[in-house]
Amino acid sequence: MKAILMCLVASLYFQGNNGTTYLPDNVSVPAIIALGDSLLDSGNNNYIKTLTKANFPPYGKDFVGGKPTGRFTNGKTLGDFLAKGLGVKEYLPAYLDPHIKDTDLLTGVSFASGGTGYDPLTSTLATVIPISVQLEMFKQYISKIKKKVGEEAANNTINNSVFFFSSSSNDFLTNYYVFPFRRLEYDVQRYGNKLVKIAADYIREIHKLGARRIVVFSAPPFGCIPIERTLAGGLNRQCVDKYNKAAQMFNNMLKQEIQILASSLPETKVVLADLYNPLMSIIENPRQYGLEVIDKGCCGTGKIENSYLCNKLSKMCRNESKYLFWDSLHPTEKGCDIFISLILPDLVKNLF
Ligand SMILES: *[C@@H]1O[C@H](CO)[C@@H](O)[C@H](O)[C@H]1NC(C)=O
Ligand SMILES: *[C@@H]1O[C@H](CO)[C@@H](O)[C@H](O)[C@H]1NC(C)=O
Ligand SMILES: *[C@@H]1O[C@H](CO)[C@@H](O)[C@H](O)[C@H]1NC(C)=O
Ligand SMILES: *[C@@H]1O[C@H](CO)[C@@H](O)[C@H](O)[C@H]1NC(C)=O
Repeated sequence: MKAILMCLVASLYFQGNNGTTYLPDNVSVPAIIALGDSLLDSGNNNYIKTLTKANFPPYGKDFVGGKPTGRFTNGKTLGDFLAKGLGVKEYLPAYLDPHIKDTDLLTGVSFASGGTGYDPLTSTLATVIPISVQLEMFKQYISKIKKKVGEEAANNTINNSVFFFSSSSNDFLTNYYVFPFRRLEYDVQRYGNKLVKIAADYIREIHKLGARRIVVFSAPPFGCIPIERTLAGGLNRQCVDKYNKAAQMFNNMLKQEIQILASSLPETKVVLADLYNPLMSIIENPRQYGLEVIDKGCCGTGKIENSYLCNKLSKMCRNESKYLFWDSLHPTEKGCDIFISLILPDLVKNLF
């Protein structure tokens, strides 16, 4: 009886909150800024030449008006849930969207680009926006908001905003495991270390540009991503242990680096957001979170299809709210919601 009750409480608690605000009353966040890869891309790739896109059906099926926006999921991304969860706004727009308004800029945008990584080779291979260029776009953004509200107000906005970095999966997957480019040069430890050093440089750079609250997502258990199960998980499509070990090794190094940064950058919070353990917990106990399918995406067979291979000809699953993954690489809106409800309370404690 007790066990059943505990389960019931857990499932009521963990089914996601569809975007509750988690901020304490005495704090307000003027804007959020997202950099990195597809987990935070709100449609920047629509405006560049690349094959890494999501601006056609069935992407966006559950977004406002059932509209594909370039978000790599059926509805809201992690970035949208973060904007809502920090009390800023419902949706985080893409910086490159030509229809973007000044009010959108002042409350934050996403510079992220699906397919990118910390390693410049990753974005080159995928022909997407490198993080170095995302930082250049952020500089341009600063001058735009300075023109709009004046330097002091712009400084205050930047100074009190929350910055999110999401990267590293594409580095390991595109560049190291699936194609061996970096594997020929580095063992996995040294490659992980190289990525951590690049991440640290980007954090120092954004700090120089005024950021004082910086959140860095760890690597997820990318060995459990449906397409990796298909490519390297054997006949039973198991999680790829070697990949998950690489993710954990990278995360340990990233954690240490972030502790060093957090203690060396004055008046600045640099916080690691753990993507690994919460996602692993969902994958190991999906029913506890109200989910049923965690080893394939909703789109097509769920085992291979993403970007252009997931399209209006793909046969869709019956109910994507029971799936952790939307396509073979990216979480569903439901998955994002559950994940944010798991991490945001602690994140808020560590940031403010
Ligand atoms: C908000 O309130 C909490 C608890 O009362 C306090 O610890 C914290 O320092 C306050 N934060 C700010 C920014 O005033
Ligand atoms: C705004 O921030 C920049 C860089 O941090 C600084 O040089 C400048 O003096 C600040 N301006 C105002 C008006 O506070
Ligand atoms: C920036 O924000 C932090 C935290 O809110 C505050 O301690 C600091 O004084 C601010 N600095 C400037 C230059 O506004
Ligand atoms: C889909 O699943 C969700 C979550 O379990 C449930 O609330 C919803 O009613 C289902 N929708 C349909 C059409 O079955």
